[in-house]
Amino acid sequence: MEKLNITTNRLILRNLKITDLENFHIYRSNPEICRYQGFDIMNLAEAEKFIEEQKDKLFGKAGEWVQYGIENKSSGKIIGDAAIKLQENNPRIAEIGITISHLEQQKGYAKEIFTGILEFLFDTKNLHRVVETVDAENTASIHLLKSMNFRQEGYFIDNIFFKGKWGSEYQYAMLNREWKETIRERDL
Ligand SMILES: CC(C)(COP(=O)(O)OP(=O)(O)OC[C@H]1O[C@@H](n2cnc3c(N)ncnc32)[C@H](O)[C@@H]1OP(=O)(O)O)[C@@H](O)C(=O)NCCC(=O)NCCS
Repeated sequence: MEKLNITTNRLILRNLKITDLENFHIYRSNPEICRYQGFDIMNLAEAEKFIEEQKDKLFGKAGEWVQYGIENKSSGKIIGDAAIKLQENNPRIAEIGITISHLEQQKGYAKEIFTGILEFLFDTKNLHRVVETVDAENTASIHLLKSMNFRQEGYFIDNIFFKGKWGSEYQYAMLNREWKETIRERDL
């Protein structure tokens, strides 16, 4: 088990802190941000409780989602968060999810931190496989996954009763060997 710290050009992925509360709440209280997510909008007290629950969690415990803050290095403020879960039965498989504040989207931040997370999981931790399940209507997230070279491997129709209606989902995944291939092509 370890404290996570992933650094990229502009960003740092690290534990949430109570001083992130205001910035965290700005986007986590926005219904558009939560539209396709497994959780609903949070009021300030709920956001504070959430940060309290997450802030001391370490990376490496199988079966547990940990939500980290994505800090903009130059401002010291969080611009979003990312969650990682190592699968309970096989911790060489991870699930991840990324959220970028509505004020900070389409600046390449999701792609940058996603790349940092994959470098850590595949290159440093030698994971075998990374999976993301996404609502079939979540265009931004689907674009992001395609742009990261994730492979669509499942389409589950009316798979989840979610926020008042049945929703379909895609499953995307990348294997360690596919990541190595992606890096090779990127660096050519
Ligand atoms: C999905 C999400 C994380 C993308 O964050 P972002 O920082 O705006 O993404 P980036 O700027 O890194 O863009 C990555 C790619 O997706 C594309 N993209 C981003 N938002 C898009 C949108 N709304 N529509 C179409 N394409 C979009 C970008 O053009 C880019 O493609 P490219 O690499 O081919 O140029 C963000 O929209 C978000 O947080 N949404 C709400 C939360 C959510 O639903 N998360 C996913 C569930 S875990």
